[in-house]
Amino acid sequence: MKSLLFQLILASFVLSNFDNNVNAGHTSVFVRKEWPSEDIPLDHEIFSVPTGHNAPQQVHITQGDYDGKAVIISWVTPDEPGSSKVQYGTLKGKYEFTAEGKMTNYTFYKYNSGYIHHVLVDGLEYDTKFYYKIGTGDSAREFWFQTPPKIGPDVPYKFGIIGDLGQTYNSLSTLEHYMQSGAQTVLFVGDLSYADRYQYNDVGIRWDSWGRFVEKSTAYHPWIWSAGNHEIEYMPYMDEVVPFKSYLQRYPTPHLSCKSSSPMWYAIRRASAHIIVLSSYSPFVKYTPQYEWLSEELKKVDREKTPWLIVLMHMPIYNSNEAHFMEGESMRAVFEEWFVHHRVDVIFAGHVHAYERSYRISNIRYNVSSGECYPVPDKSAPVYITVGDGGNQEGLAGRFLDPQPEYSAFREASYGHSTLEIQNRTHAFYHWNRNDDGKKVATDSFVLHNQYWSSNLRRRKLKKHHLSSVLKSIASY
Ligand SMILES: [Fe+2]
Repeated sequence: MKSLLFQLILASFVLSNFDNNVNAGHTSVFVRKEWPSEDIPLDHEIFSVPTGHNAPQQVHITQGDYDGKAVIISWVTPDEPGSSKVQYGTLKGKYEFTAEGKMTNYTFYKYNSGYIHHVLVDGLEYDTKFYYKIGTGDSAREFWFQTPPKIGPDVPYKFGIIGDLGQTYNSLSTLEHYMQSGAQTVLFVGDLSYADRYQYNDVGIRWDSWGRFVEKSTAYHPWIWSAGNHEIEYMPYMDEVVPFKSYLQRYPTPHLSCKSSSPMWYAIRRASAHIIVLSSYSPFVKYTPQYEWLSEELKKVDREKTPWLIVLMHMPIYNSNEAHFMEGESMRAVFEEWFVHHRVDVIFAGHVHAYERSYRISNIRYNVSSGECYPVPDKSAPVYITVGDGGNQEGLAGRFLDPQPEYSAFREASYGHSTLEIQNRTHAFYHWNRNDDGKKVATDSFVLHNQYWSSNLRRRKLKKHHLSSVLKSIASY
């Protein structure tokens, strides 16, 4: 019997080590000559204003409901309110349907925004290309978007992940690489325009230029927005003290369809993914609306329908860069246990202007008295990925903690974006693509195993293995 017991213990040890898959992490020594971390001048063609009187500009779309049968289309008219109508249909130039929305505008210091239009287009067919037209007369402009396939457990879908983008030449390179990637939707992890690096009227002007800068993607692909610290814009010296004013006016989200009380945190389901967007800079401790909402939303996740559970936030929970080190600790203390309990697959964050990926680790055994204050391998924990490397004017965060902490799997201080290519309910291909002097280079890649479906399979395999070991031992006893 002793031999049987020993074999069982040995088998468990080997299997658990294999599953934890924790190796020494890798710090890339790649150094690329970067373009200057300066915003592109306003007279550059990338910011050009579309021709025609009052022509719609800064066009962007986002998912408009919980399940992907609606989009919100937004744009700005600069000279006069104009129309808030969208004409759309499935044939180019033949617009059978019309949707009407609302117009708003705001001031920021002495800057007066253009007329900002938001139109909900709903009741759409899944997996269909729609063409749409906005504006009037000679100034009208036409675009298209593709609705996602119906929610389902094995629906393949490719997401791009971009963070901390800004409006430099490095930002442009990131944007163009995303557009070449074949991804269908952007998961944006906060810090959009970096307009808050400017003062007075230039803040609003740089929000407008950013809207024109990203339009070649945002008018066609939905960008799923989350807010970063550069969206706060608390600027009392110019009497601007309402947080997130520009962001909230310009970038609506479908928060009401998931019963969120704020556009800052919400969830959508798209293809085979349930995506939860959190706000690092809104209250999230116990009893706050964000806390209560997340508690309910996590209960609504149905891995039989949407196997992939993805969380977006701006501030990373695990980060081994000197920049913003430990800033995510308060959110970790509040939510990490839920992320592990609900087997979140992956958490994407930005904020740190470098790339980093963690192993599956958790620190949920720590409470101020347990003494167990180091992250440990945890098969139920998410992978944490920081993609704050979009290329904004603040430049790169090049100083990592040395030695590399055990929780950190790969890190590199250069610009890029990620893609997550969901294959089916068990597997997704993940890539981080470094911007390499104008070329797209896939630098960090791995197969992401689904936490719900793969773990069920793993349990079954484990049981089978144990059973055969036990039977073999009994036979040889
Ligand atoms: Fe940030």
